[in-house]
Amino acid sequence: MPDLKNDFDCAATMRTGRYWMPFTANRYVNAQGEARVLTAARGAYYTMGDGHKVFDSLSGLWCTPLGHGNPRIAQALYDQATSLDFAPSFQLANPGAVRLAERIANMAPAGLEHVFFANSGSEAVDTALKIAIGFHKLRDEGGRFRLIGRERGYHGVGLGGMSVGGIVPNRKMFATVMVPGVDHIRHPYDHARMAFSRGQPQCGAEMADDLERLVALHDASTIAAVIVEPVQGSTGVLVPPVGYLQRLREICTQYGILLIFDEVITGFGRMGENFAAQRFGVRPDMITFAKAITNGIVPMGGVIVTPEIYNTFMTGPESAIEFAHGYTYSGHPLAAAVAHVVLDIMEEDNLLSKVRALEPVLEEAIHSLRDLPHVHDLRNIGLTAAIELKPREGKPGARGLEVFERGVQHGLLLRVTGDTISFGPPFISTPEQLRDMGANLHRIIATVA
Ligand SMILES: Cc1ncc(COP(=O)(O)O)c(C=O)c1O
Repeated sequence: MPDLKNDFDCAATMRTGRYWMPFTANRYVNAQGEARVLTAARGAYYTMGDGHKVFDSLSGLWCTPLGHGNPRIAQALYDQATSLDFAPSFQLANPGAVRLAERIANMAPAGLEHVFFANSGSEAVDTALKIAIGFHKLRDEGGRFRLIGRERGYHGVGLGGMSVGGIVPNRKMFATVMVPGVDHIRHPYDHARMAFSRGQPQCGAEMADDLERLVALHDASTIAAVIVEPVQGSTGVLVPPVGYLQRLREICTQYGILLIFDEVITGFGRMGENFAAQRFGVRPDMITFAKAITNGIVPMGGVIVTPEIYNTFMTGPESAIEFAHGYTYSGHPLAAAVAHVVLDIMEEDNLLSKVRALEPVLEEAIHSLRDLPHVHDLRNIGLTAAIELKPREGKPGARGLEVFERGVQHGLLLRVTGDTISFGPPFISTPEQLRDMGANLHRIIATVA
């Protein structure tokens, strides 16, 4: 037995496979040992197992926009843990969660006013899907059972989120447990017309009309909701064409279909507004959020809904539970305490304007790579961007992996999926850090075969 307290050898224990990592090539990563271990984090940098620092180009997993090691957040955690560390959320409230719901409702687009807390993006999504089903049932439209997602969408790994998701490797093993009746509209990306767009592509709004196809196929009376990420994050930052989300909204309104924006990545500032819904000027019926609300420090997620949805549930005997759904840790006092400090810091440090100011810097850094070999597309919006590399002949993902490994060696932690690199740097990044990142990427990509 290894001595786990004194002489713990992380790399050696990784090789035993004891720790089964999520969304990971476990055998490959375990063999890399310390080259794949993060041991500390401060500001916009992580420290790797061998002690060298890497720029955190995706804010953790899109979730730490304020950077790492903020003493105010640590203090808030300590204070909350020593005053009210846990409070049951069934039939009982706690002040932090109540005030947070009020605060989030005030930040959300007008008309989204009630907040249901969960603990992750996946839970937020499954909660929203259940709310959609319940809403129609309570209005005697229980025939509306279909949920519509989108190709290349990512909505987490719950059975609901996986079913409406559209990333093939996440789905193919689980075909037998998909939620019945789910269908997908096409994704809004057309490389031939959109490659190298800066911000929103000018063409492609008509791709939203694909929802009409599903309405014609299934009949609107069977469709409960459509869920989309306003900007498709996990598949590599697919930006909605100008007018696309508006068109989706119109079709949903026309047929009485609820529109859910999954803002787990875009919520709380990444688009330079509180929510992407505000940036794109489209109001959905529900917004799911997670990640940035607590700067990734304590898990939290949630759903914001309209009064129409909330009030539909608030019927029946007053002493009866209206929505038989919730999590032990919904509205957790520690998460709420951290969320309040995160929102305080975002306000005090004017981080939304900072994101807006950094957007053209990131855009320039990414699009400066255009003439490099193997660059197939470059995309950006808000403080997100993606580089799509051409796959090596017969070896998809090999070029991306090499870029990842060189990145770590050269001080850059990259989020690579296949041959696509996604970026969501911290809001506290300086323009110089983003420019350095661009220059570093230039060197790395130029030398990758
Ligand atoms: C849009 C979206 N929805 C849901 C999720 C799932 O969130 P979690 O991993 O917290 O369950 C993610 C995670 O990246 C996401 O990007």
